[in-house]
Amino acid sequence: MDASSDEGVVTEEVIVPRRVGQASAEPWDVLSPVDIEDGSGSAQNRLLIKGGRVVNDDMMQDADVYIEDGIIKQVGTNLHTPGGTRVIEAKGHLVMPGGIDTHTHMQMPFMGTQAIDDFYTGTRAALAGGTTMIMDFALPQRGESLIEAFHRWRTWADPKVCCDYAIHVGVTWWSDKVAQEMEELTNEQGVNSFKMFMAYKDTWQLNDEELLESFKRCKELGALAQVHAENGDVIKENSKKLLELGITGPEGHEMSRPEEVEAEATNRACVLANQVNCPLYVVHVMSKSAADVVSSKRKQGHVVFGEPIAASLGTDGTHHYHKCWRHAAGHVMGPPLRPDSSTPKYLMDLLANGDLQTTGTDNCTFSAAQKALGKDDFTKIPNGVNGVEDRMSVIWEKGVVSGKMDPCRFVAVTSTNAAKIFNIYPKKGRIAVGSDADIVVWNPHATRVISAKTHHQAVDFNIFEGMEVHGIAEFVVCHGRVVVEEGEVRAISGMGKYVPTPVFNPHVYGRLEERERANAPCKVERAPYEGPVAQLNGQGMQEGGIIPVQQETFYTRGPTRSGGVNLHDSSFHVSG
Ligand code: URP
Ligand code: ZN
Ligand code: ZN
Repeated sequence: MDASSDEGVVTEEVIVPRRVGQASAEPWDVLSPVDIEDGSGSAQNRLLIKGGRVVNDDMMQDADVYIEDGIIKQVGTNLHTPGGTRVIEAKGHLVMPGGIDTHTHMQMPFMGTQAIDDFYTGTRAALAGGTTMIMDFALPQRGESLIEAFHRWRTWADPKVCCDYAIHVGVTWWSDKVAQEMEELTNEQGVNSFKMFMAYKDTWQLNDEELLESFKRCKELGALAQVHAENGDVIKENSKKLLELGITGPEGHEMSRPEEVEAEATNRACVLANQVNCPLYVVHVMSKSAADVVSSKRKQGHVVFGEPIAASLGTDGTHHYHKCWRHAAGHVMGPPLRPDSSTPKYLMDLLANGDLQTTGTDNCTFSAAQKALGKDDFTKIPNGVNGVEDRMSVIWEKGVVSGKMDPCRFVAVTSTNAAKIFNIYPKKGRIAVGSDADIVVWNPHATRVISAKTHHQAVDFNIFEGMEVHGIAEFVVCHGRVVVEEGEVRAISGMGKYVPTPVFNPHVYGRLEERERANAPCKVERAPYEGPVAQLNGQGMQEGGIIPVQQETFYTRGPTRSGGVNLHDSSFHVSG
């Protein structure tokens, strides 16, 4: 318990991680935890995480991490630390960047109600699971100011957040004012990503022309365009038919929007964005075929990113067919979980191999009573599921324990890639000197069983109910404060900070600008056409009949590079 110090006598408060539900005892299990009080003063400002294995997306090393005033100051061995430093003994544990959940909807007003997990319960639960930052969506109503929506979300979040957060803003309608507000949001409010909806017809859905306009605007502003990719027109048509057939239960939700409805929209979004050289981020990738679109477009060189979520990686859509209405409705979200039970493994493979990049949760939770708003009509079931608390464990279990990814890739897909794509790296998503001290001390061997009875979220249901997972966030440090100690959450509402996300991200735009230059259209230099020109009348019709074709000027092949007549061409025609 003693340590060397520049300042002579050293007082260290040592906290020993406890392994939860672990079968075999390890030497450090027998040490009793000492002084896990949430200290103040120096102990609060100085922290040493000692003896763990530091994992970044590109390397692992056995190292200690010294933190002061919320920032990582030293990473290495035999560190010199000042007196009064608090110590977390992390032997046998992985020391990783805290998770970044790229997609949440805390307390979102939606489908006549409001998500039950707010910025307090939602971010507290995030910390409990090892996530130290969320990215939420400010979604204006059609016709509403984007800036007003953004400030409303900030007003909701700031007093309540227990972890850091950033905001994506929804472009839920289109006008010159929207275009102008997007600029203000990027220049003055730290927003670098905008979400466009291809579904939710009659509320948030944009048509192709509006999508193109919004993509063009994102490109001009150096922002990242995000899409909810589902064909809302098809969904509306299918829902009507299903209700007419008397299919009113949650299975109707899944039936109304089969995979190809997601894949078509994903493809369309990729094409539209690529046509205007706008980088694209596909949120909540739920199906194999949508994931295949993202992966094949990336192979073609498109600047596109795909975000599967904890739900699509950890469970499947067979639950829509469950006999218990509440259970089935508890799984309703859009795009839906797919009934093909091989989907989660498939998405995990793509995530592990780099075809998909980040992981969110789309955490948007509703209680049984709220879901029951749609008890007689599946189109009225509020869409949304949990995940913010369990994402890290579910990905560890299904990704690392299954042998699909190593701990470095786990870090990449749970934090680093998000930090890079949203331009907050290496402040976030890395354990390095100068980075924010957002850290999870992960026990890879401990297990727990996920349940709504024990989770920290406000919602009364958990889509991962009964799943046994390895990997527990035993200690979580957010801005240098120990907010989870041996599984106990000690978060304080309002202690999280808003994280501005700057535009023209080199991780996104660097390649895009080069790609645009390399593929720039090139004019063909040629002699001007000097033959006859048809005359159109006032109705746009040709006047004076058809002018006979002059055979000698009729070429079927283009000019040579030097501009001469192509010798492979001939004025001879079988027609004479
Ligand atoms: O079902 C969902 N996904 N609810 C939240 C809104 C959205 O589309 O992301
Ligand atoms: Zn969505
Ligand atoms: Zn969402």
